Amino acid sequence: MPALLPTELHEYSLRDVVLGLALMWHPAEHGERVAIPGLGDAIPIRSARAAVVIALKALGMSEGSRIGVPLFCCPVVFKAIRAAGCTPRFIDIDPDTYCLSPEDLLLKRPSIDALIAVHMFGNVCDMPKILEIVKGLPVIEDCAQSLGSKVGDLPSGSFGDIAFFSFRSGKYLAVGEGGALFSPQKALQDRLADLVRTLPVPGRGEEFKHVLRTYVRSKLRSRPWWGWMGSRIWAIYNKRTEFLDKSPLILSRIFASDLAAVSRRMPRLGSMIAARRANAEYLDKSLVQNTGTTGLREQENFSNRFMYPLQFRSTVHRDQVARSLRSRGVGTSTPYEDVISGTTEHYGYQGDCPTAERLLKRTLVIPSYQTLTKRDIEHISCSVNLSMQELAYGGSGREARKGAS
Ligand SMILES: Cc1ncc(COP(=O)(O)O)c(C=O)c1O
Repeated sequence: MPALLPTELHEYSLRDVVLGLALMWHPAEHGERVAIPGLGDAIPIRSARAAVVIALKALGMSEGSRIGVPLFCCPVVFKAIRAAGCTPRFIDIDPDTYCLSPEDLLLKRPSIDALIAVHMFGNVCDMPKILEIVKGLPVIEDCAQSLGSKVGDLPSGSFGDIAFFSFRSGKYLAVGEGGALFSPQKALQDRLADLVRTLPVPGRGEEFKHVLRTYVRSKLRSRPWWGWMGSRIWAIYNKRTEFLDKSPLILSRIFASDLAAVSRRMPRLGSMIAARRANAEYLDKSLVQNTGTTGLREQENFSNRFMYPLQFRSTVHRDQVARSLRSRGVGTSTPYEDVISGTTEHYGYQGDCPTAERLLKRTLVIPSYQTLTKRDIEHISCSVNLSMQELAYGGSGREARKGAS
């Protein structure tokens, strides 16, 4: 299936390779700062997962501290909490935003020592309410998916004690790896910078391998390679790799090539967000919403619409639509699917996040990124509507098409 549309955007061109490798012979000053729009200077680091470890250290969280974190989250965050010597305490989510549920947070407030508020899919958590509930506890904002999202004029990352960002491929800037740490408190920002300075700088050989690996991976995750072989390779990797062995966590400074790519791409962030939002708004209008999906309600907040999730009534329905979309050349993903079993087995999750569990089993993400053409996005929309009709008509494509006409 050469035309299969990948769900995520992995843009890394030969030009990025040349510019990245050129830095090895003409090294730039190893960057101390990266400018985050609306926030100001942040401290670059190898990845967002490394940022979690440094943030918890900077806040002085002691061994065994309990860190509140939504169950609907990238599991590498749980790994980073553990790497900092702490324990994740799972909080449920709001089904409309996929962000922390203030009600569940209120219940679990006595059993946490700090909180990581994850702005999932670009939606900003209800920060005023959350800050009120956890008054007195350190709050870290996970802005890995919310670069450019705001509440009024306030950017995500400006509410908590510390915020971190991810520039990894698949995220908005898609530079390979790369993350950043920010604190609005000067003393804390200085402490973060001091801690990051103690981390090793990746060597030349590592940098060389990283640039080439990023290029190959990005090709495999883009058209046409995703359909030819990339999606199969990823499926095999995901099936064969143990929960804890996925997504390795390496504590180091940022790769110089990643930092340079962040600086090159950041000025285009506004236009990238505008284009992705336009795609999401087209899908909002054109998808038939009454055949099993509720879609994601746009918040009053300005969301960067990082991902476009659909919700289904059951896992069976979700998987049926995923298969049908694949047969029409539309790739999909089921984010964090193994989190329930993985956290139960390895992090002592006790089944107290029913909404997150439901959505982990019933959410399907469809492509909506900014480089899709008008034709692509129309094709995605038609394919979803047809697949939904097939679902309603019990899987008969002919009847579905009859119903559509
Ligand atoms: C919500 C969230 N937090 C943290 C991370 C970790 O980011 P990174 O891959 O840069 O370590 C990711 C993505 O991987 C994420 O989606």
